[in-house]
Amino acid sequence: MSDAPTGAEAGKFAAAMRAVELVEDGMAVGLGTGSTAAWMVRALAARAAAEDLSLTCVPTSTRTGALAARLGLNVVSLDEVDGLDLTIDGADEFDPDFRLIKGGGAAHLQEKIVAAASRRLVVISDPSKQVAHLGAFPLPVEVTPFGHRATLRLLRRALEGADVDGREITLRQHEAVPLMTDEGNLVYDLHLRRIGDPEGLMRDLTCLPGVVETGLFLGLCDTVIIGHPDGRAETL
Ligand code: 5RP
Repeated sequence: MSDAPTGAEAGKFAAAMRAVELVEDGMAVGLGTGSTAAWMVRALAARAAAEDLSLTCVPTSTRTGALAARLGLNVVSLDEVDGLDLTIDGADEFDPDFRLIKGGGAAHLQEKIVAAASRRLVVISDPSKQVAHLGAFPLPVEVTPFGHRATLRLLRRALEGADVDGREITLRQHEAVPLMTDEGNLVYDLHLRRIGDPEGLMRDLTCLPGVVETGLFLGLCDTVIIGHPDGRAETL
């Protein structure tokens, strides 16, 4: 690719370039969402064109789908394929057990459905996303617009007994209005600072009426590729 980035984006680019090496001709590939995933989409499109690869690509958001289609990738919906070989996506945090917080781009519902339909999920990241414990990044929770204030009360009650260090909850805004996801839902961000028991918290949140999905990705990711600003890529 001729438009290689410099500075902060160079690490994301390095991770993206390493990840697309995992793609083989004939694969069905899930395309993540976010700035790191966008580098991967560009790298994958360039490689597919250069090597004349036949790929089927399932995006995890309308913006990723638009980028991939514009770059000439063969974009289909998840229901048009019988599962995926590989999904490559970014993350907001990952811990030593490859547990993730995702949803900084409010695409975690589609991202999780696509990841769960994939044989493997590879996360691409810059070093800043590697943490000892999840929770410094606010945990996104997608909720239905219907009754969202009632759902907020349920979320507050669920946090009372949770092993976390913070309990503030904010409704995500975009340009001064509540952000709406691709699925027409809202996002509450849970400012937990530290999540002591991600599995227990996910169970306690996903059973609440009105909660569609959380940004906790547990047991889904098997590989993390960290891209460093000097252009090195490290596979964990
Ligand atoms: C979108 C996501 C993104 O993968 C996550 O927010 C990371 O984004 P970026 O690569 O821009 O830092 O989960 O819902």
